[in-house]
Amino acid sequence: MLKWLWIALSYFIGSISFAYIVAKLHSGIDIRNYGSGNAGATNVHRTLGIKAFAVVSILDILKGYFVVFIAMLITDNQLAIALSALAVILGHNWPILFNFKGGKGIASTLGVVAAFSFLAFIILVVLMAVIIYITRYMSLASLVATLSAPILIFFLSGDSYYFVGITFVLTILAWFTHRQNIIRLLDGQERKIGER
Ligand code: G3P
Repeated sequence: MLKWLWIALSYFIGSISFAYIVAKLHSGIDIRNYGSGNAGATNVHRTLGIKAFAVVSILDILKGYFVVFIAMLITDNQLAIALSALAVILGHNWPILFNFKGGKGIASTLGVVAAFSFLAFIILVVLMAVIIYITRYMSLASLVATLSAPILIFFLSGDSYYFVGITFVLTILAWFTHRQNIIRLLDGQERKIGER
């Protein structure tokens, strides 16, 4: 019973938009009215700088990690754990607490991955850092990382096909939330890091 309640709670925890909260506390603005309009760490970086970016990134990663970590304490039912992971990302992207206008789910997806396999998380962070260093495109790094995530989870998270499957679903969600970024990348119109 508790595990199904936790799935519902995971959605509400995901709905806590740290990008929105940090931007409000930092400058009194609604981050969704600035830059790309996304309530995420990248747009906070674009609008408010590196320190606010670091705070939002860490909190969003911890949010994804925490939800799955607690789910794993509550139950060993892997379907329920996987659904908690899905719920926290759905809450982050489409938060009931913030008019369903949230982020694109990358940092929180990294947090979910960290709970499935910390090594996979480290590899994805390094991969993203390399892509960002070379290209200056956060969105490209996000797309490559989410594409790599299910493959890494397949090899590194033991024998849980639920974890692999749900990570693949999170990849589809990430590519969906990045659909405008993909079009801009293909058109050469995507903002590089630091560009407003
Ligand atoms: O994680 C979000 C990032 O990949 C893109 O953000 O604000 O440039 O659309 P943004």
